[in-house]
Parts: sequence; C-alpha cells; structure tokens
Amino acid sequence: MIHFTSCFCALLLARFAFTAPAPPGSSSGTLSASTSPSASVSVSQSVSMSASGSGEPVSSSAPTSTADAPASTATFPTIDLEPNNPLWNENSGTPAPIRGTLGSVLLGPDNLPIDKQNPDLLAPPTTDHGSIANAKWPFSLSHNRLQDGGWARQENVNVMPIATQMSSVNMRLEAGAVRELHWHKTAEWAYVLKGRVQVTAIDPQGKNYVATVDEGDLWYFPAGIPHSLQATDDNKEGAEFVLVFDTGTFSEDSTFLLTDWLAHIPAEVIAKNFGTDIQTWANVPEEELYIFPATLPEADDQAPKSPQGVVDNPYSFAFSKVKENKLAGGSVKVVDSSTFKISKTIAAAEVTVEPGAMRELHWHPTEDEWSLFLEGTGRVTIFAAQSNARTFDYQAGDIGYVPGSMGHYVENTGNTTLRFLEIFRSEKYEDVSLMQWLALIPAQLVKSHLGLSDKALADLKKEKQTVVAPVH
Ligand SMILES: *[C@@H]1O[C@H](CO)[C@@H](O)[C@H](O)[C@H]1NC(C)=O
Repeated sequence: MIHFTSCFCALLLARFAFTAPAPPGSSSGTLSASTSPSASVSVSQSVSMSASGSGEPVSSSAPTSTADAPASTATFPTIDLEPNNPLWNENSGTPAPIRGTLGSVLLGPDNLPIDKQNPDLLAPPTTDHGSIANAKWPFSLSHNRLQDGGWARQENVNVMPIATQMSSVNMRLEAGAVRELHWHKTAEWAYVLKGRVQVTAIDPQGKNYVATVDEGDLWYFPAGIPHSLQATDDNKEGAEFVLVFDTGTFSEDSTFLLTDWLAHIPAEVIAKNFGTDIQTWANVPEEELYIFPATLPEADDQAPKSPQGVVDNPYSFAFSKVKENKLAGGSVKVVDSSTFKISKTIAAAEVTVEPGAMRELHWHPTEDEWSLFLEGTGRVTIFAAQSNARTFDYQAGDIGYVPGSMGHYVENTGNTTLRFLEIFRSEKYEDVSLMQWLALIPAQLVKSHLGLSDKALADLKKEKQTVVAPVH
C-alpha cells in the first residue's frame, strides 16, 4: 500500500514535471536554489487537479523540498473556467432550476414570466455563494397612486431593505398637471424621462428660480427648499420623471404640502398672517391636492423678479447636453457637484453598454449605488466579501442597488443597447477600477496572486476602461 502510494506520487511528479509549462522566466527569483522549479510547479498543479470539482479548500500538506526555504508559490485549488452565462431570457429558452449537473426540474406552481426575467436567480452561476439581500425592485411592483392628472409610485426601504441611502419616486404628470407646492426634509434629485417640466423654487434668502427642464436633464432641490413641478405641453402627453431622495426612508406620502398646511391652521390665523379678511381664504381646499390638473405654465421669464435676485446656483442642469465619453464597449457621462454645483448630496452617471459589452469590474469607495435601468437587459453580480456573491438580472424600469465598496460589474445580456443611471449619495462621483488597480502596482505582485502570464500582465490597461468591449 505504502509502496503503491509513493509510486503514484512519483508518477504524478514525473508527469507534471514533463507537461508543466516552463516556470515563469527570469523574474521568478523567489524560487530557492534548493527547490527544483519543475517539482515546485508540479506540486501546485497536482493539488489543483485533485481538488477540482470538490469545492473544498485543500490544506496544503504538499511536501516542501527543504525545511527552511520559503515556499516559492502557494499551493491552492484554482477557479473553475466553465462559463456561467444566463441560461435563458425573456425571448427564448425554458426556465428550469438546473445548471449543469446541479438542480432539478420544477414540479410545483411557478411564475414563469418572472423566471424568464431572472435566469440568474432560478439557476444561479455556480460562483454565487452565501447570502446577499434582494437588490432588485421593479417599479412595476410598486403600489401606484393614481390622481386626476397623473400618478406616482415609489421605492424605499419598506420594499427594498438593502437600499438604505437613497429612495425614489417615478412620477407622471399630464400636460399642465402640477405636483403641488411642497417641501421635504431630504434633498430631491430628478432625471426627466419624457417631456418637459417647469420647476419653481425659492431659497431661504428669498432668491427665486423658475426653469423648464428637458428630457434627459436634471433638477435638484436641497433639503427643505419649497418647490413645484408642472408638465408643459411640449409633449402632448405631458411628462414623466424619476426622483431620487438622499435617504432610504423617504415617503412621497409624507411631504409638507401647501394645502395640507393651510387646511390645518385656524382660518383667522391664516388671515392674520397675510393681513386680509378671512373671506379671502374661502377657496382653500380642505384636502391636499398632491397631483392635479391646472392651466398650462407661463414662459419661465414671466415669473416674478425677486428683489433678492435669482438663486446662487441653478436648481436645474442640462445633463442631456453634456458630451458623453465614448468607450470601447459603450459610453459614459458623469454629473456631480463639480458641474451641477447645487447637487451637493447626489452624484450620477449615465452609462450605455453595447450588446456583449460590460461595465467593468469596479466598486465605489464608500458610496452605495442606486441604479435605474432605462433600456435593454443586464446582469450584475454583487460581491460582498467573505465569499458572499449574488447575481441579479435587470430590465428597463428596474431599480438595482449595490452597497458601498462591494465589487460589481454590469453586463449587457441582451441584443440591444443597455442604458442605465448610476446614482450616489455623494458630492462627487468616484469609482475604483479592478483593471487599473492591477495595472498600476508591481507586476510580480499581481503574478504572485493570480499566476498571470507576462503577456497578460503587460496587457493590463493603466487607464480606466469603464465599459469594456466583448472579447472576440
Ligand atoms: C438575441 O438574439 C439571439 C439570436 O437571434 C436570440 O437567440 C436571443 O434570445 C436574443 N436575446 C435576447 C435577450 O433577446
């Protein structure tokens, strides 16, 4: 028995000494003189072979050639190179909780349309592991508040507990319809999806602001600033937009509304405040208006001139006019308080990813990412350290969320352009690129971790790629 085992080991050693690639060239100065390069390579190779498929970490009892020489390379199992693509999509394939030899067919009731949109939940990549809270919320699952003149539906921690730093509202106003004069404790950032919206506000110094915000453009009201939103008829259907708030607990139903306030103060107090008789206030609504039809807005320049002047920094920003950066696999443009000065708590990027291309592996140092998918389909794997990783699939109208520092990518899994917004509760936009990191530290250090060839090391790009092209 002993005889057989040592024979087998010898065989393995001989075999790998023969077939193993030459040890990494001149730079492999860490190999100690007393360690034969071929033996060193063969040990690491045979361990990885024997461990492949088991998924169990192998404790290295591999022989070191001499007692006091430092091991030249660590020995460990290597990753599985089997692709883990999504196994079907909305347009083709039949959902089944099966990947390779794992899983089994469905027998019970099942919501197939949802499976078709989430192939990586029903049959996750084998690289997914552990537990990460849900990071997908389709606005389609939000309760909608229908009003005469429009509607609003929201996402916050109540429906998406992972999303603690930001929350959102998707709002629709018919031409002329108004989101009533109001304010709230959080800042409000907005992106216009369709149509044009006239916004009004004043600041605490009595400076005012009235502007009409175009499709793809933004507005931002700091916390507590009173404002209104009204759709123009430039688009005969009116407008639709998404609002993002800099807290996860915001609720659209708990804002400070003009009518709600006046309906809850004694009428004589209102009259005294304005120096009028009480009858002046006979038409104040008893209940909040929230969203309601109204006369179309006048041109912006018809607004009163404030003796205090206009606000120091505009509350809207022509993001649609910002020139995008063309990238190998798509494009990106960024907006934060360096250009949209008033937007001190929200930074954003609008990203396009062409079919097969990918928003590269990266993370945001401290900022959580709230994302909105605008067109196309994509998937994201969130890496949360301690072996935790989970993959989510997204369609247009879905919200995604990635907590700060967690590594991720966004891959276009469809046949059309993927376009999405990345939004951060931050004064400035920032990310760290995995490729750029590895390119800008000593190559030998990277090689020691990942065993890359000298060619692969030399090919690492020192500039941030942001969106990488498909490999052909
Ligand atoms: C993309 O096109 C291919 C070939 O026509 C099709 O099999 C696949 O289902 C399409 N993917 C999506 C997401 O529609």
